[in-house]
Amino acid sequence: MKIGILGSGHIGKTLAVKLVEAGHEVKVANSRGPHTIDAAVLSTGARAVTKEQAVTDVEVLILSIPFAGIPDLAPLLANLPAETVVIDTSNYIPARDDRIEAIENGKTDSVWVTEQLGRPIAKAWNSIYSVTLAEMGKPAGHTERIAVPIAADRERDRDVTMELVEDTGFDAYDAGSIPESWRQQPGSPAYCTEVTLAELPKALASADLARSRRRVELASKVYSERFEPGHNPGRDFIVQLSRLLNAP
Ligand SMILES: NC(=O)c1ccc[n+]([C@@H]2O[C@H](COP(=O)([O-])OP(=O)(O)OC[C@H]3O[C@@H](n4cnc5c(N)ncnc54)[C@H](OP(=O)(O)O)[C@@H]3O)[C@@H](O)[C@H]2O)c1
Repeated sequence: MKIGILGSGHIGKTLAVKLVEAGHEVKVANSRGPHTIDAAVLSTGARAVTKEQAVTDVEVLILSIPFAGIPDLAPLLANLPAETVVIDTSNYIPARDDRIEAIENGKTDSVWVTEQLGRPIAKAWNSIYSVTLAEMGKPAGHTERIAVPIAADRERDRDVTMELVEDTGFDAYDAGSIPESWRQQPGSPAYCTEVTLAELPKALASADLARSRRRVELASKVYSERFEPGHNPGRDFIVQLSRLLNAP
């Protein structure tokens, strides 16, 4: 498929590499311009482009930028054809992003994103740590393959997103609609806990929004005590902390 990616950070660059490896035609853009994109990402076959080029002539557009930057994308996406599949990886983290009252008052993160962009989206890869995404993919059928939940409101958005998640080395699971996607938000039992397809439905079903919010606050305090802002800790640290916060 022809895929554009906005964001070449931890998640965006990893998706670019994996989706090229899976045979897709990938263009990637960041906020500073094509010349600043990591050469290692481009060596695999992804093309560095401007933001405008990343949203032109693509069947799928992946958004992998900080949550607070989503509203700024609205003009860029205004002329995107309605049928283009837009997949958002972003997460609202109050300690990092500007406080958003509507979300604090209970609105699902991705419902807010659809409102900002004025179009449907799918939500995927938001609940997997970037190091897990980069290092833990496995072939289909592997007993330890990690599962990734997907939310979408349109059938084609869901089908395409599930196919692409499988292409990145993870079992895709249909987690329902965008309004229900709070179950895969930060702090929930499905978030960064590396569960399998057999375990994921129970993890999603046991989510509790108020508790997830409290767990995000706790996790943010632990990060800020241990690490400088922007530092990506090791995978073991993130997965152990996420599992501990959600231990039964
Ligand atoms: N890190 C994780 O483990 C993880 C896991 C799941 C989900 N997520 C979510 O996925 C999103 C990306 O996370 P990340 O860790 O990859 O972030 P990151 O490493 O900080 O990278 C963010 C990228 O977005 C680009 N960007 C910012 N505004 C942009 C714009 N208006 N147009 C185009 N590109 C723009 C930045 O450009 P420059 O390079 O020019 O600054 C950068 O390449 C976040 O919402 C995050 O919450 C992260």
